[in-house]
Amino acid sequence: MTNDVSSFNSVPQAPPDVIFNLTAQYKADTDANKINVGVGAFRTDELKPYVLPVVKKADAILFKNDSLDHEYLPITGTPSYTQAAARLILGADSPAIKEGRVAAIQTISGTGANHTGAVFLSQFYKNSNECYISKPTWANHRNIFTMAGFQVKEYPYWNAERRGLDYEAMLQTMEEAPNGSIFVLHACAHNPTGVDPTQEQWKGIAEVMERKGHFPFFDCAYQGFASGDLDRDAWAVRYFVERGFELFVAQSFAKNFGLYGERAGNLTVVSKHAEQVRSQIEKLQRAEISNPPAYGSRIVDIVLNDPVLYGEWKENLSYMSNRIIDMRKALRERLEQLQTPGTWHHITDQIGMFSFTGLNAAQVKVLKEKYHIYMTDNGRISMAGLSTANVDYFAKAVDDVVRNVH
Ligand code: LMR
Repeated sequence: MTNDVSSFNSVPQAPPDVIFNLTAQYKADTDANKINVGVGAFRTDELKPYVLPVVKKADAILFKNDSLDHEYLPITGTPSYTQAAARLILGADSPAIKEGRVAAIQTISGTGANHTGAVFLSQFYKNSNECYISKPTWANHRNIFTMAGFQVKEYPYWNAERRGLDYEAMLQTMEEAPNGSIFVLHACAHNPTGVDPTQEQWKGIAEVMERKGHFPFFDCAYQGFASGDLDRDAWAVRYFVERGFELFVAQSFAKNFGLYGERAGNLTVVSKHAEQVRSQIEKLQRAEISNPPAYGSRIVDIVLNDPVLYGEWKENLSYMSNRIIDMRKALRERLEQLQTPGTWHHITDQIGMFSFTGLNAAQVKVLKEKYHIYMTDNGRISMAGLSTANVDYFAKAVDDVVRNVH
């Protein structure tokens, strides 16, 4: 065999991941003013990663627990954890839980929950050839559903002129989609726009989806982080359950517990055949990851099942969501003081980790090259990358590119 013989000669180079590549570029940048508003990860006002105080307490409890070991978890995860996760999203008094219509499976964070749900649907759902994601959406939705074998279509979501939800166009696509289509919906704090339907609009969406027999696949990565209120952020999912939908919810504890690297997630299934679905997902999970990782889920399990720690977690959530709200106010205020052309109310109207600024790719490029500010090309910024110390610099940079780059 000669050295140039390879089975992989025709493998094309894949582009780097848009979000994580920004972090790498930011880290390599030596400029003192650099700002990372790329990845959606919470930072304190000192721009440091935040280990939630309640997580530190749960950690200490784990450390002292001599009965813990490193054995395998059950294939679909620890029941006290998965059940607590299902109660968190559906509500402890959910009729679906009382009536035994819920299954919950521990996953590799929200990505794993999306993936596991998508692979199951690709095998067992009646319309398994296509699904709909929002335009724009979290970049990984397309990857996940494409790799699970779906032809991924888009429903309009963002109206650039209105700097808000394109409600009518979204409903129209739902009306025109074949009956029984899968729609991936963001439960709260839509990524990347930070724009959520109002409760009235959710009712309208549910009405069309029910009439058309569409299947809602909720992605819920920000419960409690969006508004600071766990119940409010779960409203849409609970409303759909109340109306009698069968649905999936992908849950992540990366943001609301700050457990980014621990990959604690959950797939909550509401179905008349929850046990059959669970059994098939167990089989699938065995082939893919065998057993879920223990550490992050143990922390979440302790906190969700202890009333005192649960209360403390809510306080930690309030701190995070309030810091983000403060940064929204600060940024809007600065841009309005600078009289930056355009309107900036959307910065404070939007909720959750992200703001969809309306900046275009050319402006984003100049922000990176001239100001060392890192954000995705679609103009999404992670509000947690701003701080009391850098918001002036950021606003002035935005002012410059809005005026001078078109
Ligand atoms: C983001 O959208 O920045 C985060 O959810 C990180 C990720 O996995 O993409």
